[in-house]
Amino acid sequence: MKRLAGALLVVMLVAACGSESTGPAIADLAKRPAVTDTSARSSKVISREDLPPEGTRALFDHLVAQADGVPWPFEKLVEMVARQDPSGAAPLVLLIPDGRSLLKGQSDYAHPRILMAADFQAPGSPASLGLAPRGQLFLGFTEQANEIEVISYNEAAGRFEFQLVQDYTANGARKLVYAKRAVCESCHQGGTPIFSVRPWNETNGQPQTAARIAEALGDKPYLGFATSVPLAVPERYDELTDVGNFIAASQKLWLDQCADAACRRALLKLALSYARAPGDFKADGAEGAALQALQASAKAQPIAVPQSDLTNRDPIGEAVGLKGWWRGLFKTRIKFGDGAKTNEDLEAFDRLPKLPPEQDPLSSRAPKRLLTANDIDGIYGLASLFTADDIRRLQAAGKQQWGRVEQGVAKLPDAFFADAPFSRVKTLQALLPLVSASQAAPTYCCLDVSEMSPPIASGEPPVELAADSPLQPFAHFCFACHRGNPSKRLDFMRGATEAEVRTNIEAKSEIREALDWDRYRGTDKAAKLMPPSDAPQHAAMEEAIKQNPKLLEEMRAVVPGLFDF
Ligand code: HEC
Ligand code: HEC
Repeated sequence: MKRLAGALLVVMLVAACGSESTGPAIADLAKRPAVTDTSARSSKVISREDLPPEGTRALFDHLVAQADGVPWPFEKLVEMVARQDPSGAAPLVLLIPDGRSLLKGQSDYAHPRILMAADFQAPGSPASLGLAPRGQLFLGFTEQANEIEVISYNEAAGRFEFQLVQDYTANGARKLVYAKRAVCESCHQGGTPIFSVRPWNETNGQPQTAARIAEALGDKPYLGFATSVPLAVPERYDELTDVGNFIAASQKLWLDQCADAACRRALLKLALSYARAPGDFKADGAEGAALQALQASAKAQPIAVPQSDLTNRDPIGEAVGLKGWWRGLFKTRIKFGDGAKTNEDLEAFDRLPKLPPEQDPLSSRAPKRLLTANDIDGIYGLASLFTADDIRRLQAAGKQQWGRVEQGVAKLPDAFFADAPFSRVKTLQALLPLVSASQAAPTYCCLDVSEMSPPIASGEPPVELAADSPLQPFAHFCFACHRGNPSKRLDFMRGATEAEVRTNIEAKSEIREALDWDRYRGTDKAAKLMPPSDAPQHAAMEEAIKQNPKLLEEMRAVVPGLFDF
């Protein structure tokens, strides 16, 4: 009996060990094709490159460019998003101390990962469509890695963009780059946000997890955020990731399940009518049947809705009892500080103990659903992109007669329905003038890239400066805000080599004024002095001036005055 028990224990230990230590390496998974059907139109139309398609940008870039750079600290970045919401509500924020993200080894109860999601649809102004980032803007901040991960929608490209803010510290470079998409997609398999399902034990919506965080932090908030949130917060976060996830499916329904203008026109008409009055909509009506027939004629493969839901994981529960004892034997607990310290450190990530496959976000997940020509979910998917204000705008343009809106849809040229991503903004810009001749196409905050600097890919090496280069102080005190700033106007220290950066700095004569502290301090131009007085770089520079009283003079000497020519 004893021997049997011993043998059983060995078998079980081997099994436990096996499930914990093997599993695919992320470096290999990053090579796994995330597209289910490479021959589909959507695979050709929707870019899979790391950088956004020419002339398009992530929503996050637009917001950051308009805010003159990535705000610091993180609380101010969340405020930047909050300011866009006319209701004044704060975005959704929650904490994950012991999670499953790429940087999981850099979080613990005293330094939890912070997740943020926007959850509003702003009404806009008479001339301009409102910003609608609900389900389209997500942040994940790992303080100990000095890195923010960003997932935000690219309206014109019809896809989510994956970005990083690297070296996000008080005096750091705060470099905003596009991530290696394939790495992100090894877990974010649909190219979309992901999140666990109920009861969200990893989050501070669970009292036990919240209590541990509070204990580790001595009951103080973490970087300005509450250590405990109602369970409704992770629940809503989960919903928002599902909303975002379905956008990817909607684009495939638009491009693949509809093959021509007739089908897409019918789909748009029904989507708008559903958005106007979901309660009146008859899914089994004649128009729905007509759409099904049009979709059938496209002869597309079934459309996969990506699986954005991960199983729940209970890090506190799994550490107790028999399960916890086994895990303890094999040291599967991650030691704080282990694993990837940046999103590029995949080998370090792979050295971490593996999660059981059913809990591992790297395990390949079957689609949430497969949609065939009989499914009319494209209607609901497109409808969800329009806001209440969009519908009000259309109704007003049609003088409260919906028939006029439908006539407008009928008048859209076939070219409008050519193979291109569906865009809520472009649709309203084309449609409103057709509904009412007196209605100009509305503008939109976040489409035009002409005032933006070029996007930067991750892994681009930082510019190499000679140790005694006169540009060194600019690197310390200015680069964070004036190199890689998505706003072209403020990106005046760009350049791949020292010589290029120097040429650009020399060309910006305003720098002389901005560094003339003695002349402008206490005057009405003081606000133009750089670095801004509330920035950490300002304090750092004051310290440096104590060491070297000639610092400002030396920096100004790099930039020729107008009369030096
Ligand atoms: C090893 C798996 C894994 C990889 C690789 C990964 N993530 Fe995630 N990510 C997660 C998990 C799990 C979550 C949700 C829970 C959490 O944050 O702990 C998440 C959440 C996020 C969130 C919050 C929104 C959401 O989807 O819930 C952002 C933003 C994000 N990741 C960005 C990125 C970016 C950018 C990359 C690529 C550089 C990336 N992730 C790579 C696992 C991963
Ligand atoms: C924390 C971010 C930050 C840092 C650090 C910073 N700046 Fe700025 N800078 C800004 C912002 C924001 C503006 C735009 C202000 C405005 O338009 O009102 C700006 C504007 C300027 C302008 C005016 C640009 C124009 O065309 O009007 C100059 C010149 C400038 N900065 C130089 C510098 C120099 C030199 C340093 C380093 C010593 C520096 N800045 C450090 C944020 C920063």
